[in-house]
Amino acid sequence: MLDYGTLKLAHVACVIGSYALFLTRGIWMLQESPRLQQRWVRVVPHVVDTFLLASAIAMVVMSGQYPFVAGWLTAKVVALIAYIGLGMLALRRARTRGSRLAAWVGAQAVFIYIVAVALTRQALPFVA
Ligand code: HEM
Repeated sequence: MLDYGTLKLAHVACVIGSYALFLTRGIWMLQESPRLQQRWVRVVPHVVDTFLLASAIAMVVMSGQYPFVAGWLTAKVVALIAYIGLGMLALRRARTRGSRLAAWVGAQAVFIYIVAVALTRQALPFVA
């Protein structure tokens, strides 16, 4: 059985991997690079994000702190949905380069917010 510390380490490693992959794919999107279509680029981010979520769910259960009970976890789930939506717009759905860029930047702002929520365990981490 994995202990909580190992799960948290895996979660943070997935956070770093997920961000690095999203950043790289965004740069390739802006360059209209064919590298975006490589097979591993289409598969690996989903694998990393699956582990990110699985480690999150395992920690939620082990710590007994649940979304819609603990405010900071509710904020994380809501922000995660926004991050996924903006990510889809940035890398796939948005029609113009400008709107893809805006969605890519917005997704990164949401990502930074999620990390700040995780570190402070506050839904409003930037409010004193
Ligand atoms: C993109 C999505 C996510 C990012 C960037 C992220 C980021 C992080 C980071 C950086 C930590 C480490 C905090 C520390 O060192 O104290 C953490 C911990 C944690 N995250 Fe996430 N997380 C994400 C998604 C989620 C989701 C969806 C949940 C569950 C609803 C979740 C639940 C947790 C829990 C329970 C911890 C452990 C808190 C503790 O006991 O210290 N995370 N997250």
